[in-house]
Amino acid sequence: MTIRIGLIGCGIMGADHAAILHRDVAGASLAAVYDADTARAEVLAAKMPGTQVAASAEALIADAGIDAVLIAAPDALHAPLTLACIAAGKPVLCEKPLADSVQACRAIVDAEVAAGQMLVQVGFMRRFDAGYRGLRDGLRSGRMGAALFLHCVHRNKIAPEYITSPLVLANSMVHEMDIARYVLDEDYAAVTVIPARASRHSTSRQPQFMVLETRSGVVVNVEMTPDAQYGYEVQGELVCEDGTLSLAPAPPVAMRHAGVSGYLVEEDWRPRFVGAYRTQAQEWVAALRAGTNPVGASAWDGYVASATAAAALASLAARQRTEVVLPPRPSLYG
Ligand SMILES: NC(=O)c1ccc[n+]([C@@H]2O[C@H](COP(=O)([O-])OP(=O)(O)OC[C@H]3O[C@@H](n4cnc5c(N)ncnc54)[C@H](O)[C@@H]3O)[C@@H](O)[C@H]2O)c1
Repeated sequence: MTIRIGLIGCGIMGADHAAILHRDVAGASLAAVYDADTARAEVLAAKMPGTQVAASAEALIADAGIDAVLIAAPDALHAPLTLACIAAGKPVLCEKPLADSVQACRAIVDAEVAAGQMLVQVGFMRRFDAGYRGLRDGLRSGRMGAALFLHCVHRNKIAPEYITSPLVLANSMVHEMDIARYVLDEDYAAVTVIPARASRHSTSRQPQFMVLETRSGVVVNVEMTPDAQYGYEVQGELVCEDGTLSLAPAPPVAMRHAGVSGYLVEEDWRPRFVGAYRTQAQEWVAALRAGTNPVGASAWDGYVASATAAAALASLAARQRTEVVLPPRPSLYG
């Protein structure tokens, strides 16, 4: 059985998802693509044998020849497109964030609950990264004792100009809001955001330092530097009662050259997480073929990440510790 996938949004992420589906995923075909920029959709379709260009996003979702939809369009379109997929009864892998507001995320959760079926997976691909899975599995094994701290670093070489301080939280640090909750397997009680001085490399945003407190008392700290200049890097160290677990440097090749000994640093996030994107696509398709629930972040997880981001934005604005308040989790999500 081949899952026929329709892709909406053929930009940086859409083109990468298409290449992964075509090259690395058994049992799936990229049947159609759509982009508001028709030329962009046509260029991508021309590289993929058998891929059609759809007339509109709505036509792609309604097409009986499409079994599942992958959304890689801008954030503001995630909610309407995901809701249309749920209304059509089609599984959907939507890039993060699930939507551009907490209310829109809640509407998606409500629609899925009304449909009585988990159709939505959110593209929080770090859940498929071998390193973060190792942190989670190591903690779950019980041999490290209880978690105490999770130290995270997230640095971009140069962020795009439209990334303002609020978007540093809602678009970039939302990855840590999701992955720390996944590694620790518990919800947050509160968040505190402290902006650093503005770097001379950007006037539109400040680097941010965030402290998340989980309900059981684990402290997660995240340094996000959007204009680190030297390259892209994430770090993670989980401190437990009986030892620590850390993400290893990637790629795992050390170099000695021109008086320097160390590890090469990636230009952006894509090489660092190429394996995670591949595993995400493979496991999404495998679950679709098996007829089981999605294995990645659910619509509820997407809602929680956005609610956490909203609390973080409130903390940034008020310069104070802010509680993360969540409604009861619907039974659909276990
Ligand atoms: N998971 C990750 O690590 C990660 C990384 C980067 C971006 N993202 C997310 O992926 C999404 C896409 O980001 P990107 O970097 O590829 O952006 P991009 O700007 O490169 O691509 C977006 C594409 O959407 C198209 N588009 C615009 N309006 C449209 C419409 N009405 N209908 C269909 N297509 C439309 C644009 O023409 C463009 O080709 C965003 O939601 C972003 O937050 C996720």
